[in-house]
Amino acid sequence: MRNLRTGLLVAFEGIDGTGKSTQLRLLEDWLRAQGENVLATREPTDGAYGRRIRELYVNRASCTPEEELELFIQDRKEHVREVIRPALAAGRVVLTDRYYYSTAAYQGANGLDVQAVLDRNRFAPRPDLVILLTMPPELSAQRISSRGEQLNAFEQLDALRRVSALFASFADPWLYRIDASQPAASVQEQIRNAWRGLSCSED
Ligand code: TYD
Repeated sequence: MRNLRTGLLVAFEGIDGTGKSTQLRLLEDWLRAQGENVLATREPTDGAYGRRIRELYVNRASCTPEEELELFIQDRKEHVREVIRPALAAGRVVLTDRYYYSTAAYQGANGLDVQAVLDRNRFAPRPDLVILLTMPPELSAQRISSRGEQLNAFEQLDALRRVSALFASFADPWLYRIDASQPAASVQEQIRNAWRGLSCSED
């Protein structure tokens, strides 16, 4: 049995349009049905920093790459302190839609040094499992457009290509890559397999 006083942290990562939020919800429902005490959360958060970040979707040029990084870091500090750590301490399973790999990939693609960005995230607890959904950026951009959404400043195709290449370069052992261009049910099955591997190794 897992130690109920130490929860598990699962981060969903990948470029926009890969279906992260849908897959996270499906896993959340499945885990709850098995009696897990789940907390689903996301970054950017709905707090003050998260709201400021969402303003950047329409006017990214209003701050420098360093200032932009600072907003994501402050948002995550608040998220870790007020949501993630308390939930893990209570033994819950925390599912987060984006975490520090997004900062490394997106702010790295925006010209910042990837290792330096990761170093700024040392305060954040390491996830037990990272589900990295992969997909050609052209397909993800097409999916976003077909939802009737405009690509925001973070999502322009050139930028997505750079972000995608950085996501592809991460190689931590707890990182589990899944091809998200497959049917959603098959993607979900692989996510559950990754979870099973994780919860078995914790037994
Ligand atoms: P997204 O998951 O699309 O959030 P929402 O749909 O709730 O607005 O994330 C918003 C954008 O922020 C996305 O294009 C990726 C970007 N982002 C970063 O650039 N750095 C980060 O650290 C995070 C968490 C997100």
